[in-house]
Amino acid sequence: MKDKVTQSIVLGLDLGTSGVRAIAVDRQGRLVAQSSQAYPLYTPRPGWTEQHPDDWVKASIAVLQDIALKLQNAEIVALGLSGQMHGMTALDRSGAVIRPAILWNDQRTKDAVAEIEANIPRHELIQRTGNRAVTGFQLPKLLWLKHQEPEAFDRTHTVLLPKDYLGFALTGNQFTEPSDASGVGCLNLSDRQWDTDILSAIGLSPNLFPAVVKSTDVVGHLTAEMANLTHLPVRLPIVAGGGDNAAAAIGLGILSNHTSRGSLSLGTSGVILAPLTQPTPDPEGRVHLFCHVDGGYHLLGVTLSAAGSLRWYRETCAPELTYEQLSDLAATAPVGSEDLIFLPHLSGERSPYLDPDARGAWIGLSLAHQRSHLVRAVLEGVAFSLRAAFEVIRPLTMLDEFVTTGGGANSLFWRHIVADVLQVRLVQPSAAEGAAYGAAIVAMVGIGWYADFETLIEKLPPIEAAIEPTRQLVYNEQFDRYQSLYRVLKTDR
Ligand code: XUL
Repeated sequence: MKDKVTQSIVLGLDLGTSGVRAIAVDRQGRLVAQSSQAYPLYTPRPGWTEQHPDDWVKASIAVLQDIALKLQNAEIVALGLSGQMHGMTALDRSGAVIRPAILWNDQRTKDAVAEIEANIPRHELIQRTGNRAVTGFQLPKLLWLKHQEPEAFDRTHTVLLPKDYLGFALTGNQFTEPSDASGVGCLNLSDRQWDTDILSAIGLSPNLFPAVVKSTDVVGHLTAEMANLTHLPVRLPIVAGGGDNAAAAIGLGILSNHTSRGSLSLGTSGVILAPLTQPTPDPEGRVHLFCHVDGGYHLLGVTLSAAGSLRWYRETCAPELTYEQLSDLAATAPVGSEDLIFLPHLSGERSPYLDPDARGAWIGLSLAHQRSHLVRAVLEGVAFSLRAAFEVIRPLTMLDEFVTTGGGANSLFWRHIVADVLQVRLVQPSAAEGAAYGAAIVAMVGIGWYADFETLIEKLPPIEAAIEPTRQLVYNEQFDRYQSLYRVLKTDR
């Protein structure tokens, strides 16, 4: 006989780039169980990145099954979704996947980006969607498919974002929600619906995209087949959720009407997220503007190689050192690394340059420089890159502090550098469970456990340990040089 039910639980599922993570959270927002599983990323050609949606589904079933097993005595009442943004899963009329999904970091769409901007003036695109045409977004991927794989395009009935494909696999229903849909490239921010003028200007049908519902809406229920495979309850409500950055932000308590606090992630990529109540884009589109899951908006600045630069440095130059030792080594070099500047554009750059051809460099090397300078310059260069995005964001917001997350933020030394370079206060949460946690939070509001995010967020663990910026004049001078170096070194490949 089954034991008595002890706890009510919601699940959050985050479909990441390297793997999927499921977490189980109780009504007070406490983590009760978690499970993750990796899947492969394919690079069939340089600059291309793809995944098999089937791998996503198999790994998701495995982690959900694992959670169900761990929580046999709990009552699981809902599941919220989050995931990597911008990817394209093309489906035929029967819902079958036509080709591998093309991911957010794929660089194949240069011509399609130019085609979009040739048909819709950049300022108009920004005014309508909050963004200019961006290589990684879904819309240029669809144009690429039309031109490069016309047979596959002709069979395409709908295109789904990665987490929405998972929602379809779990429920049989095709939907999306604004935080992820605003990263497609054709969502009109005024009504949060597909912009039919933009689509007709580039010859694409709005019917290719799923209906846009609210992030907190229940998009369907777990099918009997999926319930059987995952051991979760049949007809479990599935909540639309959010793109990974918006979901992670809501999990950190970042609300769009609390505009003084944003988030800063030092993960593989570095991400600055600044909440907004109104959709106010950068007029030049140098940072992204997306919808938040709470009905507001947020600006997003992305530097593609943040902790990724440090990982590259370690693997290439210092494999015998741990990240902690690298951080200690960097601390032995002086502020500013004695005029050595590192450009972290190891895989092209997003904000503020939007340049897939940008490349990294150390500039200013001399015989005086040692390994400590090289690694400190990497940490400082990433901070300059974040500042370059922040310079665009700052005038549009009221930000005075960031909640820091991501593996790189484990280094107190690196956090001090970032605070000094950006001249902002940084606060470190006592726990950061990332986008899967945010997906669970969205589900809690979705099923009515809490009336709104505001009420729920008051219950979350408080933020701890603040770092105040100190004035380092060297950084201001170096940042000016950093910015001129990108322009000087820019070459057309
Ligand atoms: C945001 C972006 C990434 C992906 C990766 O614009 O491209 O953060 O969402 O997960």
